[in-house]
Amino acid sequence: MSDRTGIFAGDDPFAIARSWLAEAEKTEINDPNAIALATVDPDGLPNVRMVLLKEIEPDAFVFYTNYESAKGQELSESGKAGFVMHWKSLRRQVRVRGTVTREDGPQADAYYNSRSLKSRLGAWASRQSQPLSSRASLMADVAKITATHGATPKRPPFWGGFRIAPLEIEFWADGAFRLHDRFVWRRRSIADPWNVDRLNP
Ligand SMILES: Cc1cc2nc3c(=O)[nH]c(=O)nc-3n(C[C@H](O)[C@H](O)[C@H](O)COP(=O)(O)O)c2cc1C
Repeated sequence: MSDRTGIFAGDDPFAIARSWLAEAEKTEINDPNAIALATVDPDGLPNVRMVLLKEIEPDAFVFYTNYESAKGQELSESGKAGFVMHWKSLRRQVRVRGTVTREDGPQADAYYNSRSLKSRLGAWASRQSQPLSSRASLMADVAKITATHGATPKRPPFWGGFRIAPLEIEFWADGAFRLHDRFVWRRRSIADPWNVDRLNP
């Protein structure tokens, strides 16, 4: 019999992730949906930075960014990503590894349009991860974009979502004396069923 009970219970890892995030929304002071997103460059050198997780779908995780940024290029080249969400207030983490595709259709448009006007214009103005001569030059670009794109900018073609389809999801919760609880859900491909293992701390 499985001893996967309490906060680890259930047959659907996405439901567990959603429920942990909902708890973190009540306890974290800022950005409970922040994830440390890992990519690799063409030399295999890892790269990691924070982004905000915007959706936990029935079978995937979605965040938004600039496709021409370092991460955008690395994701497009490798087609793979990993991320971790860590909540200090809960002493828990969720780790995810999987394959990546773009979300650059109506869902990305809807998310883009839900953002504040300044954020929408900012997405147009920022050549994310490229060198910038000064803050003043960025602000001048924002002013130009504001003049040309007005009050209803369209989603830039170089900005949109990435959808991570996990092959591995691990749930980790702090235990007394470092005897933590860990359960990993693994599948060989996204078409395969999940296999769940408890792991040593
Ligand atoms: C809490 C937090 C949330 C962030 N969320 C995003 C995000 O959702 N999308 C994004 O492109 N950058 C986000 N950033 C900025 C990234 O960490 C990073 O600086 C930027 O995307 C450039 O990364 P890159 O050069 O590796 O592409 C966030 C930063 C922090 C600290």
